[in-house]
Amino acid sequence: MSARGRFITFEGIDGAGKSTQIAALAGTLRARGIEALLTREPGGTGVGEKVRDLLLGMEMHVDTEAMLMFAARREHIAAVIEPALAAGVWVVCDRFSDATHAYQVGGHGLEAARCDALEAWVHPNLSPDLTLLFDLPPALAAARMAAAGGVPDRFERERRDFFERVRAAYLARARREPERFRIIDATRDAGVIAAEIVDALDGRAWA
Ligand code: TYD
Repeated sequence: MSARGRFITFEGIDGAGKSTQIAALAGTLRARGIEALLTREPGGTGVGEKVRDLLLGMEMHVDTEAMLMFAARREHIAAVIEPALAAGVWVVCDRFSDATHAYQVGGHGLEAARCDALEAWVHPNLSPDLTLLFDLPPALAAARMAAAGGVPDRFERERRDFFERVRAAYLARARREPERFRIIDATRDAGVIAAEIVDALDGRAWA
């Protein structure tokens, strides 16, 4: 039987530049002969992608928002993440539960205990092996998104102070779990960031 795969998540405010780096990391892993699966939240399954459309497109109560995030996550874990990890595949996921703590609790004022309760229900025994937190000032992230163009979704249309709160919530979580998190200074060039991610990986005993 193959060894269990590793679970790596990418987090950060919108416009932090995660997408480029996720693709780069997948390339690095595959070049090392590691089978890697790229996925995202909310989404990653048929059910999850439909829930994503609701979440990104419609206004709703913050409790509803949190429950839908975790509903999509439940499906994602059952149908994709756990089977892959069990088969020895590494899972690289664009956002996971830290995003709910940062966006719904930090950004939208969800009661923290509710988020903790949902997390304890949905994945009591699953935690990422490594979480790369892309950190940068919201003003810079907003400028990058504006330069990239495209139609902003419901979250991307939020005001600057929302992203300040999301950023602060992410950093607070990272400080509480320094072993799991690596804070990446996302203001730097993509090449420098890619090298730091490889370094973060190589620094793990399990990599
Ligand atoms: P993302 O896929 O990073 O956005 P994009 O495809 O536009 O780059 O994430 C979608 C949005 O959902 C993002 O604004 C963050 C938000 N989100 C939450 O609010 N809570 C969550 O638990 C998750 C997973 C995402």
